[in-house]
Amino acid sequence: MKVLVIYSTKWGVSRACAEMLTDKLTPTFDVTLCDIQDEPPSPEDFDVAVIGGSIRMGSLNKKLKAYLKSNIDKLNKIHTALFICCGFSENFDDYVSMQFPKAINADLGIHFFGGELKPQKLHGIDKLILKMVRSEAARDDFETPDPDHPPLPEIIPENISRLADSIRALL
Ligand SMILES: Cc1cc2nc3c(=O)[nH]c(=O)nc-3n(C[C@H](O)[C@H](O)[C@H](O)COP(=O)(O)O)c2cc1C
Repeated sequence: MKVLVIYSTKWGVSRACAEMLTDKLTPTFDVTLCDIQDEPPSPEDFDVAVIGGSIRMGSLNKKLKAYLKSNIDKLNKIHTALFICCGFSENFDDYVSMQFPKAINADLGIHFFGGELKPQKLHGIDKLILKMVRSEAARDDFETPDPDHPPLPEIIPENISRLADSIRALL
């Protein structure tokens, strides 16, 4: 079976998730892994498509959204899963309803793969923005666990494994 995995990423977290999924499916499946910036192929030549990426300022990557919108009919003819990486999991349902075309029938589900808020990995304006948004999710010293604040987000390998299991179940 041929699987197409497409991700959009700014700082590599969604790529890492897509690579984890690819590792779990290879070599049983013939997996094509693509960055949305690299003009991914049409889904019509595949049996399964897994498409997603990170949320930035409340929105998914524009190219990813355009790809989804222009391939709705083709995606609905194969097995499809969508995924999101973001820093604020409490907004996941809102991102799902506002960022993905409602006409896509994601029979393999819409998944939260986690996310990261690590300013030391960033630079430029993103680093400043992330420090501001992160202070809402954790203490300002960024490292000390604080029972009064929710833990910082991480990639959630179990959620990636769960999707890999659903894809394996198609065999
Ligand atoms: C500039 C910036 C803006 C962000 N905006 C949001 C946001 O609106 N909502 C959210 O839940 N997470 C937000 N995040 C967190 C990212 O979604 C998270 O860091 C994710 O892991 C990034 O994945 P990527 O490296 O694949 O782009 C933001 C992060 C940055 C750096």
